[in-house]
Amino acid sequence: MNIVPLGPGFAAELRDVTIAEVASDDTAYAAVRAAFEEHSVLVFRGQEVTDESQLAFSRRFGPPEVTKVGSQGTGTHFVILTTIGEDGKVVPADHRLALRNKANQLWHTDSSFKRVPALTSVLSARIIPARGGETEYVSTRLAFERLQPALQQKLKTSFAWHDYAHSRGQIASDLASPEERAALPPQCWRLVWKNPVNGRSAIYLASHAYAVEGMDPAAGKELLDQLMDAATAAGTSYVHTWRGGDVVMWDNRATMHRGRPWPAHEARLMVRTTISATAADGLETMRPPSRQAAE
Ligand code: OGA
Ligand code: MN
Repeated sequence: MNIVPLGPGFAAELRDVTIAEVASDDTAYAAVRAAFEEHSVLVFRGQEVTDESQLAFSRRFGPPEVTKVGSQGTGTHFVILTTIGEDGKVVPADHRLALRNKANQLWHTDSSFKRVPALTSVLSARIIPARGGETEYVSTRLAFERLQPALQQKLKTSFAWHDYAHSRGQIASDLASPEERAALPPQCWRLVWKNPVNGRSAIYLASHAYAVEGMDPAAGKELLDQLMDAATAAGTSYVHTWRGGDVVMWDNRATMHRGRPWPAHEARLMVRTTISATAADGLETMRPPSRQAAE
């Protein structure tokens, strides 16, 4: 396996390894897992991608999420991100599907609004527009390391509230449906996720975050905005331009990502598998102290 660095201090392409090998071979998995802990975003090119091969690869890293109510693929292990409607045609720009894709264009980490957040997401492109539609990543680990020590210390003992309805509300007030709101109550997580393998800390932040526990709403929002700006500073991102056969996986504990726009009339179809975080990934350290015993 060859590791070719891609981004400014994070993200790497893995060559001479296939997702099928990772699925079936412990040594290949161990090498890829180590690269994942180190580089946070991994790119595999030229893969034979099917739903089955993607899921078999993903399962290596932990338990796959079941897709939530209101998303395409609900009840399965796949999230389908597309603007292709049921009639096979690309939906208009104001359609719910298009607005949901727009919400994915806000900087975020996946599943911070769920009762169990995600370790990693694995994404493949099945239909790629001629231009646009890239996926952009930043390292919230490198962002944490750029912060002043006093702020680093404060964040290590701070907790933020995450709500799916909050991020969707930034696109349209009713984009999160009543069923989604009922299924996805706000969650509170530490603002720093420390990687238990290498001890490096990352800001745990997303478009879903709306408040800081114990801070008044305006001051909390100001802190979240400040962190969002710091984490997404110009020149710190890796932009992935999709080709057929690409599989990209990222560490939701140590990165944020966003989709990039593409011409509204063009089709795009992405398939995501998402792996829940477990205690071995540092999950228990993320809960507010009052909840650690209760859950
Ligand atoms: C995702 C996501 C952005 C994109 O799959 O979680 O945010 O580029 N995707 O489609
Ligand atoms: Mn996402």
